[in-house]
Amino acid sequence: MRPVKLALLGCGTVGSEVVRLLHEQAPDLTARIGAELELAGIAVRRPGRKRGSLPVDESLFTTDALGLIKRDDVDVVVEVVGGVEPARSWLVEALRAGKSVVTANKALLAEDGATLHEAAAEGAADLYYEASVAGAIPLLRPLRESLHGDRVTRVTGIVNGTTNYILSSMDASGAGFDEALEKAGELGYAEADPTADVEGFDAAAKAAILASLAFHTRVTAADVFREGMTAVTAGDMASARRMGCTIKLLCIAERGPDARGRESVGVRVHPAMIPRTHPLAAVQDAFNAVFVEAEAAGQLMFYGQGAGGTPTASAVLGDIVAAARNKLTGTRAPGENAYAHLPIRSIGEVVTRYHISLDVAERPGVLAAVAGVFARHEVSIATVRQSGRAQDAQLIIVTHGAPDANLAATVAELDQLDIVRSIVSVLRVEGGA
Ligand code: NDP
Ligand code: HSE
Repeated sequence: MRPVKLALLGCGTVGSEVVRLLHEQAPDLTARIGAELELAGIAVRRPGRKRGSLPVDESLFTTDALGLIKRDDVDVVVEVVGGVEPARSWLVEALRAGKSVVTANKALLAEDGATLHEAAAEGAADLYYEASVAGAIPLLRPLRESLHGDRVTRVTGIVNGTTNYILSSMDASGAGFDEALEKAGELGYAEADPTADVEGFDAAAKAAILASLAFHTRVTAADVFREGMTAVTAGDMASARRMGCTIKLLCIAERGPDARGRESVGVRVHPAMIPRTHPLAAVQDAFNAVFVEAEAAGQLMFYGQGAGGTPTASAVLGDIVAAARNKLTGTRAPGENAYAHLPIRSIGEVVTRYHISLDVAERPGVLAAVAGVFARHEVSIATVRQSGRAQDAQLIIVTHGAPDANLAATVAELDQLDIVRSIVSVLRVEGGA
């Protein structure tokens, strides 16, 4: 049997671990596939860069990614470069030519997955991307295959390791955001520019990919409501603790009726209070977990390492094995099926709950005035607690579920009241807290 030949695009954190695992596990991979895997070439930006003791011949490195993809002997293209271009042009070229593609590129899939899926259909080629969401955790294949007989209603996840590390550390030590971010940087979790993580862009890209698969509807990063976690304070975390909750940066994708009663999909990323009894509250450090709810299956939880070279390479290798097997048997993996075409619900229509802390003047009638604002916007209050007295009086209000637009309008009006000295914090509440 001739070997299955791979073009590896990128040899950084993930790519170098793909190379190492391909080498170390070669005999097992050959036995599982029924043919050897062979690297035809490795495209990088700086071929002369020192890459430790990678078990490959230097002559395999090239800067000509497109030339490598177009080689007749290449069967599978593995892309671990990242970013939208030139990755999109490379992968479209490969797929249209009938070459299987394995990619970890969440940014590209979330911005323009449609172009890749169309090219795969055109070339009757495989497109695998398990590593693009939650690193090592087998999640996309269960959504794409195992749950295809069921109806997924909600996907709630912690899909960014850096921010989960920061929030876990704030919860455990009482540290503020800046201190926790600094520690995350020292430990190598946070990148030099942590914007994509802390502002929720990374989680929003992953949310779009999950929602597309779960609801058979094309969802892009632009459809995802996104709020980062830089405003979460040590005070918010302490308040959450007093309520028996913690704070996590969640991605939430759900189907349900919009304001006009049409079945629709809402996708959002924001920090939220969740009860400590919720399975996602136990997810600590840089781990990821995704909680899937489906009509027949009920609740399912997927947990593991969502980032890092070796865990991510594990998911890439799994896809390479599947693509290679299909090449040998002349079959194709199930492609994207966006038949449902559900409309996207705006954040204003999504029903959420708020936890609001107000710094208020302490005098008779304050509570009635505050309660009146909630009533005017048809928001029902679940609990009210006052902490402190006189100059230090704080009202902490937790609402029942209401359209997010009503909750936001309530907060805007509260901000205008003379008796409200400041709005200390506003956080959404999830999971029955
Ligand atoms: P790195 O930055 O470590 O590596 C990127 C690689 O791409 C490098 O080898 C670089 O070459 C190469 N490269 C960059 N631009 C070009 C170009 N124009 N032509 C050819 N090669 C190029 O990235 P990661 O390994 O961390 O990430 C790769 C992908 O995996 C991304 O899509 C990322 O989102 C995804 N991912 C990463 C995870 C992680 O934990 N790191 C987790 C899950 C997904 P050179 O080495 O010469 O600079
Ligand atoms: N920056 C990402 C994280 C890497 O912290 O989870 C994995 O996509």
